[in-house]
Amino acid sequence: MIRIDALPYPVLIGAGLIGKAPLPPGRLFLVTDENVARAGWPERMRADFAGRFVLQPGEASKSMATLETLLDAMIEAGIARADHVVAVGGGVVGDLAGFAASVLKRGCPWVAVPTTLLAQADSAVGGKTAINARQGKNLIGAFQPPALVLIDPKTLDTLPQSELRAGYAEVVKYGLIGDPGFFAWCEANGAALLAGDVAARLHAIETCVRAKATFVIGDEEDRTGRRALLNFGHSFGHAIEAETGLPHGDAVAIGMVMALRLSVERGLCPPADLERVLAHFTAIGLPVATDADADALAARMAHDKKGADLILARGIGQAFLYRSASGLSGPNIRSLSA
Ligand SMILES: NC(=O)c1ccc[n+]([C@@H]2O[C@H](COP(=O)([O-])OP(=O)(O)OC[C@H]3O[C@@H](n4cnc5c(N)ncnc54)[C@H](O)[C@@H]3O)[C@@H](O)[C@H]2O)c1
Ligand SMILES: [Zn+2]
Repeated sequence: MIRIDALPYPVLIGAGLIGKAPLPPGRLFLVTDENVARAGWPERMRADFAGRFVLQPGEASKSMATLETLLDAMIEAGIARADHVVAVGGGVVGDLAGFAASVLKRGCPWVAVPTTLLAQADSAVGGKTAINARQGKNLIGAFQPPALVLIDPKTLDTLPQSELRAGYAEVVKYGLIGDPGFFAWCEANGAALLAGDVAARLHAIETCVRAKATFVIGDEEDRTGRRALLNFGHSFGHAIEAETGLPHGDAVAIGMVMALRLSVERGLCPPADLERVLAHFTAIGLPVATDADADALAARMAHDKKGADLILARGIGQAFLYRSASGLSGPNIRSLSA
C-alpha cells in the first residue's frame, strides 16, 4: 500500500484496498450511485453502514433537490458530528457527499473512496466540494477536505472505457503542466494503463496525487493563483464541453491541444512538442480537434469565470499563466480548432 502524507489528510492507495479499508470508528453513512452500487464496490467494504443513499448516476444529481433529499436521509439516520460520511463513487458522488458533509450539523467529517480515474487522480484530493446552480456548474459549494482518501485502482475494472479515457486526459494534464518525465511515461505506458495494467494505474494515480498536492498546498482555498495551472486546457475545454456536449475529459483533451497550438502560434512552444501530444492523444483515442463554431466558443469563454485564466506552455511540462482568456476572439480561436 502507498501512503501519501503530503496533504493534511492521508491518501492511501492500493490494489484491493477497498476490501480491507481502514474506516474510521463511529457511525458511517454511505453515499454512492446506482452504477457503483451495481458493480458491488460498497459491499466489498464490509462496513456496517448506519444509513445509505444511492444517487442516480450523472451530473444532474449535483443539484439542490438531491442535496435536500440526501440531508434528510442523513438526519433520519441520526448521523452526528462524530460520524463519517463515506463517498464511494466518481466526482459526482464526491462533490455532492462532500458538500452535504460540510453543511450537515455545521460540518461532519467524510471519507473519499473515488472509483473513477478522474476522481482517483484528481477530484478526490484538494477539498473542493460543490453542487450545480441553475446558472452554472459548481456555483454552490464549500472547501471541505476529506478526513481520509482511500484509492483502490481495482475499482476501475468495472468503469466503462469511455470514462477511463476521459479520466486519462486529466492524468496526462499533470505531465503537460509540470512534469515532462511523466508525459514521456504516459507515452510509453498510457495504452497499458487504459487496458487494465494495475501497476501502471498505481503509478499514474500516485504521481497525479503527489503533483496535485504540490499545487494545492499553500492555496487550499484557491485564492493565490497557485492552483491555476490545474486548469490547463479548461478555458477552451469548458467552452467545448458546453457547446458540443462532449464528455469533460474529451473536451479538456481538445482544450489542451488548442492551448498548445496557441503557444506554438505565439512562438512560445516548439512545434515538435505539439506534434508529440497530437501523436499520443491520437494513439490513445483522445480527440484533438473540434468542429464547434469558433465564435460561439469565444463567446462562452468570455463568460466562463472559472476558465478565465488562459494557461499556455513553453513546452511539454512547462505550463504558465498567460493572461485572461476572455481576450480571445472567434478568429483567434478558428485557427486553433482544426
Ligand atoms: N472537486 C473537484 O476538485 C473536482 C475536480 C474535477 C472534477 N470534479 C467533478 O467531478 C465530476 C465528474 O466526475 P467523474 O468523471 O468521476 O464522473 P461521475 O461521477 O459522473 O462518474 C462517471 C460515470 O461512471 C460511473 N462509475 C463510477 N465509478 C464506477 C465504477 N467503478 N464502475 C462502473 N461505473 C462507475 C458513474 O456511475 C457515472 O456513470 C464533475 O461533476 C466535476 O465537476 C470535481
Ligand atoms: Zn477537468
